[in-house]
Amino acid sequence: MAGAEKREVIYEVKNVSKRYGSVVALDGASLKLHAGEVIGLVGDNGAGKSTLVKVLSGAHEPDGGQIFLDGEERSWSSPREALDAGIETLYQDSGLAPHLTVSQNVFLGREKTVKGLLGKLGFLARKEMEHDAHADLERVGIAVPAANRPVAQLSGGQRQAVAIGRAVSWARKVIILDEPTNHLGARQAGEVLEVIKAAKKKGLGVIFISHTLPHVLEVTDRIVVLRLGRIVKDAPTSTFTGDTLVGTITGTIQTIKVEGD
Ligand SMILES: Nc1ncnc2c1ncn2[C@@H]1O[C@H](COP(=O)(O)OP(=O)(O)O)[C@@H](O)[C@H]1O
Ligand SMILES: [Mg+2]
Repeated sequence: MAGAEKREVIYEVKNVSKRYGSVVALDGASLKLHAGEVIGLVGDNGAGKSTLVKVLSGAHEPDGGQIFLDGEERSWSSPREALDAGIETLYQDSGLAPHLTVSQNVFLGREKTVKGLLGKLGFLARKEMEHDAHADLERVGIAVPAANRPVAQLSGGQRQAVAIGRAVSWARKVIILDEPTNHLGARQAGEVLEVIKAAKKKGLGVIFISHTLPHVLEVTDRIVVLRLGRIVKDAPTSTFTGDTLVGTITGTIQTIKVEGD
């Protein structure tokens, strides 16, 4: 039973698998994400992190296993469906449209809702969107230059900040960040970590994928380690040191017996 301090499980996968031809990318992975919890998902290249993200975000249907949102079994036939259910995903490349402005990017794909709210007042809708975009990004702790500037004029770090701000401000339940601090300077990466903390405060469940282990250790509540498509460790962040985390990822620290080892 969910007690007062015990946050409820918002998103869960049970025993999900995914193969690409003869490659088993994900082999019976199970994961529980609670409201207000940040999970770090780590593993070497090819461990299956992005594949798990694609299953969680509706980009791939798993070959086997189950997905539960708020305790209800679901299946996603497209990323749009997962998005509509409150699951936001930020992929390695942020997917911003360079020729559009910051505010247009923040509202990209959601214009219909905005139009629905504001009717045919095109000019007003644009102003309103610029204002809202700025407010949304500020609320999640992101300082961006004028919302009416094209994204192409922003630095890489600023673009990433807009992409993350966009995802966090729209996410209603879950946000998945696949290596969001790649290619960022130390200060900008620090800002991304602050945004993750803001998302957690908002009660979102966060899945954070990164190779920068100090970031993972700083910002997560729990760490899930994938190796060769399997979850080999799922434990509170406080139980890891930098060294034991590296050992668990590379396999020098044995966790479970992996078949065929
Ligand atoms: N579209 C694909 N087609 C074939 N194999 C793939 C594809 N995507 C990933 N893989 C393979 O699946 C495994 C897991 O990859 P991935 O989930 O991208 O790992 P990670 O994100 O941890 O680096 C790897 O062996 C990779 O080569
Ligand atoms: Mg990946």
